[in-house]
Amino acid sequence: MQLQEHIWSWRYRDCYSTNNENICGKKVKPTLKKNFFWKSINIKTSLFTLFNFWIRDFNKFEYSNFQKIPETLSAYVPEHVSLEWDVLYSSRPRDYDWSYSKNIQELWVIHDDTFWEHIHFITDELLKHKLRFTDIFHLWNNLIVQKVSPNQYKPILVDVKRLGARMYPLQPLLYLPGQMKKKFLRRLQKFKWKFHAVEAA
Ligand SMILES: Nc1ncnc2c1ncn2[C@@H]1O[C@H](COP(=O)(O)OP(=O)(O)OP(=O)(O)O)[C@@H](O)[C@H]1O
Ligand SMILES: [Mg+2]
Repeated sequence: MQLQEHIWSWRYRDCYSTNNENICGKKVKPTLKKNFFWKSINIKTSLFTLFNFWIRDFNKFEYSNFQKIPETLSAYVPEHVSLEWDVLYSSRPRDYDWSYSKNIQELWVIHDDTFWEHIHFITDELLKHKLRFTDIFHLWNNLIVQKVSPNQYKPILVDVKRLGARMYPLQPLLYLPGQMKKKFLRRLQKFKWKFHAVEAA
């Protein structure tokens, strides 16, 4: 597969379309800009993530996280996920009208109850398997909303790299029992406040 146009970028990775229009590819940014005292410096991403999280390659790490997701949740992750060299490929969800589905942050409030039932199901299953992906409800770029029909929405998780207390080197208390679960649930609550009008009231 070949990477083509740039679609979106967040902190660590750039996402590109590929020659297969149903699949996109994520590549770790070669360098990151970090503020060091009064100076802004470019640091190699693999060194930064190795030093902070003991992970050299976020794509490899995320690929192994995708493998841990139970079958019961297969409807909520991209149908295809593969790792080829340093590129993580995954299916691009599409809506009922065949347009590409959008990030949740582009949609604002979601009224569809079935969407929230999906969210509760995902949450319960992840907690049952001790998979507290702390970023799926955070920053609002990591969850795609697939419009299955004009009024029915389904969440698809596209960024599952943050798993475990190692991801928060400045918060050692997260290693204590129950703390990761608390963080995960706190983020879920904030997510509902922002996107679920009824529960925010
Ligand atoms: N399978 C996919 N289908 C459609 N868009 C995707 C897919 N995977 C990633 N993207 C887009 O690419 C963006 C960047 O990917 P991702 O969130 O994994 O990068 P990141 O830099 O590691 O994120 P973060 O800043 O949250 O750490 C996502 O927010 C999403 O918009
Ligand atoms: Mg992300």
